[in-house]
Amino acid sequence: MAQKSKILIIGATGYIGKFLVEASAKDGRSTFALVRESTASSPDKSELIESFKSSGVTLLHGDIYNHESLVKAIKQVDVVISAVGFQQLGDQVKIIAAIKEAGNIKRFLPSEFGMDVDRSNAVEPAASLFALKASIRRSIEAAGIPYTYIVSNGFAEYFLRNFGQSGATVPPRDKVVVLGDGNIKVIFNKEGDIATYTINAVDDPKTLNKILYMRPPANILSFNEILSLWEKKISKTLEKIYILEDQLLEKIRESPAPSNIILSILYSVFVKGDNANYEIDDSFGVEASEIYPEVKYTTVEEYLDQLV
Ligand SMILES: NC(=O)c1ccc[n+]([C@@H]2O[C@H](COP(=O)([O-])OP(=O)(O)OC[C@H]3O[C@@H](n4cnc5c(N)ncnc54)[C@H](OP(=O)(O)O)[C@@H]3O)[C@@H](O)[C@H]2O)c1
Repeated sequence: MAQKSKILIIGATGYIGKFLVEASAKDGRSTFALVRESTASSPDKSELIESFKSSGVTLLHGDIYNHESLVKAIKQVDVVISAVGFQQLGDQVKIIAAIKEAGNIKRFLPSEFGMDVDRSNAVEPAASLFALKASIRRSIEAAGIPYTYIVSNGFAEYFLRNFGQSGATVPPRDKVVVLGDGNIKVIFNKEGDIATYTINAVDDPKTLNKILYMRPPANILSFNEILSLWEKKISKTLEKIYILEDQLLEKIRESPAPSNIILSILYSVFVKGDNANYEIDDSFGVEASEIYPEVKYTTVEEYLDQLV
């Protein structure tokens, strides 16, 4: 069997980055985390940094704005995964330039981990954000760098933890605000599963120059279906307040940043159905649970069980 690729994760100390580091190390791979020097010595991140070290992860000090540090880190691995956050999305051109200079990378996975930005019906400000991710796709393709784009759809912890109810830390037990009419199919996946599928893809010829979509069948549900699962579990019917399309668009226009960004992403998911409103064609993508049936993913229903 071919040796597993060595992986560098940029944005390793971020929200999704830490799951990617964990999944890579768990898979027995040589795992490298690019960490800014200030972060490596920050008390806030010390526990995470220690957990990286105890999992055998190699820490490399660097910054995407320091070209030399990037090239040096990239030269030590075969695969680069970027999990940088919103602020750095456009600056991933610096990672692309460093990969080109290093000349040894077999696969690059840019920071995506959301919807398919080439197939969305987003309104502003989400539209500009998605356009930025799409422009990074075009730069990777123009540079001839082998790639996989990860379309993970929603992070479970981000939405299912409180059903998107502003200010809440637990799911609702009396009333619930529903975006749209609640009948559109949406997809939420647990972060650990997203990371496992991602690491499975890095050496896989089936995902080379393709989009890896995460649409595990049990996690394709409408908001109303998620609510009825929850209502059964808590043996209670919730009062539902629906925010329909026009009202949501008005709310987006009136809200300051970052609320307008979040609402416009939710509009694309819950009103336009951009998680699941198109077919995946072999010519551009593959579905994770189909090609990796051995991964026992957490279903939305199992996730909700933990919250009862
Ligand atoms: N599908 C969903 O529900 C969902 C939800 C949220 C995010 N996302 C997507 O997931 C991706 C990652 O977002 P996130 O929220 O996980 O990001 P995040 O928590 O903001 O983490 C960003 C990471 O980038 C690092 N970073 C920042 N500046 C850097 C620099 N100059 N050089 C090197 N590293 C730098 C940060 O390091 P420090 O620790 O040093 O600051 C951190 O590790 C994005 O594409 C985002 O759109 C998807």
